Amino acid sequence: MTNQELIDAARAAAKLSYAPYSNFAVGAALRFADGSVVTGANVENASYGLTLCAETVAVAKAMAGGMRGGLEAIAVTGPEIGPGMQGRADPITPCGRCRQTLNELAQLGGTDPDVLCVGPENVRQVKLSKLLPDAFGPASLGGPASLG
Ligand code: THU
Repeated sequence: MTNQELIDAARAAAKLSYAPYSNFAVGAALRFADGSVVTGANVENASYGLTLCAETVAVAKAMAGGMRGGLEAIAVTGPEIGPGMQGRADPITPCGRCRQTLNELAQLGGTDPDVLCVGPENVRQVKLSKLLPDAFGPASLGGPASLG
């Protein structure tokens, strides 16, 4: 799957977002070395702080499906038209918690995935290690082997 197709998969996932409180629909798509793609969308909650971000949902789906590495690329899309856009022109980037969550899966497989941050006008491509330098992850606890 090309990067453009990965972005399209994230956009499609965002259509299933449950964001009645923010109206800010986010989609995420993860591409793995074996060619598989796992998507997610944000899932809000009436208790606002319990909201799950799209990237975290995608990582949880992937890991619950058995993925333990091979994360090559991530596409993240925000709303491009409508009430959630609020005049934003720049691509959205994963929030801090999502960076940490993505890092877990990346570091397990020893990859540094490209993050495709998609905006209404352009796509910003950046390495996860740039978004989360000096990350604390599985390696900090002795590495994947010791985690079983
Ligand atoms: N959101 C994500 O899904 N991913 C991020 O990285 C940033 C924020 C969601 C959470 C909430 O439902 C909405 O965007 C507005 O913050």
